[in-house]
Amino acid sequence: MVSGQDPIVELRNIVKRFGSVEALSGVSMAVRKGEVLGLLGDNGAGKSTLIKTLAGVYAPDQGEVIVKGEVRRPWTPAAARDAGVETVFQDRALAPQHSIVTNIFMGREITNAVGLLQVKKQIDEANRLMREIGFTSKVFNPESTVGTLSGGERQGVAIARALNNEADVIVLDEPTTALSLTETQKVFRFVEAVKASGRTVVFIGHNIYHVWDVADRFFVIDRGKEAFEGAKSAFAGAEHLIEMMHQLAETGRADTTTLLEETLEPPE
Ligand SMILES: Nc1ncnc2c1ncn2[C@@H]1O[C@H](COP(=O)(O)OP(=O)(O)OP(=O)(O)O)[C@@H](O)[C@H]1O
Ligand SMILES: [Mg+2]
Repeated sequence: MVSGQDPIVELRNIVKRFGSVEALSGVSMAVRKGEVLGLLGDNGAGKSTLIKTLAGVYAPDQGEVIVKGEVRRPWTPAAARDAGVETVFQDRALAPQHSIVTNIFMGREITNAVGLLQVKKQIDEANRLMREIGFTSKVFNPESTVGTLSGGERQGVAIARALNNEADVIVLDEPTTALSLTETQKVFRFVEAVKASGRTVVFIGHNIYHVWDVADRFFVIDRGKEAFEGAKSAFAGAEHLIEMMHQLAETGRADTTTLLEETLEPPE
């Protein structure tokens, strides 16, 4: 299988306005199967607006969303979910007073023919999902209260919930912003596990060094427009990417002629 090539979801020429503010001015972004895409940009660049559009939360004023080659209209949260796009929002928390298993199955409980909750099945499935993302902490089990988990582990629960919803694409909006380095490493391990399962991750992060480690490709937006994009192999290293972002912040554009030729991923 050659991964990283077919777009699984594509945003084309997306324009999104909030009153007189144009948050997105014609952004086209393809998300490819099996990749970790790092979405970068300054505060207010439009990252959250772009991924809320990808999630169907915002209907674009112009432009379209293409899933597996077909234009999907209307593009709503239900349509996005149906297309396998699950988003873990910056501002949507888990229910800390509830257990891991309750959080994972919230709104999608496993019930039997007469509507009774299948507690054992849910616990087994929660165990399976947690194992799948490498949630190895021995002190916790699916019945632990989310409020007792560390920040990175909570992100893990949110990721497990997305997987339970049969996501092909998991979008994480700044999942590590409030976390310590150890906790951040946990989240990256979850992301690696999700990628290893053949799924796609879109990752928004502030710390470029962090995003550098986890992403295969970078997409940089600036004031509502695409500034540049490139596979990790098109950059000489994290410093090269940082240098281009500094240039962008200072001059309004980055010199893309410094990008190296991208090396295609070899077949697995
Ligand atoms: N609901 C809204 N109503 C009005 N303006 C908005 C709304 N959401 C975003 N904006 C504006 O759109 C622009 C892009 O915001 P967005 O939140 O997408 O940026 P961001 O790249 O996610 O920033 P950050 O890094 O701070 O999270 C900003 O100018 C912001 O003020
Ligand atoms: Mg944001």
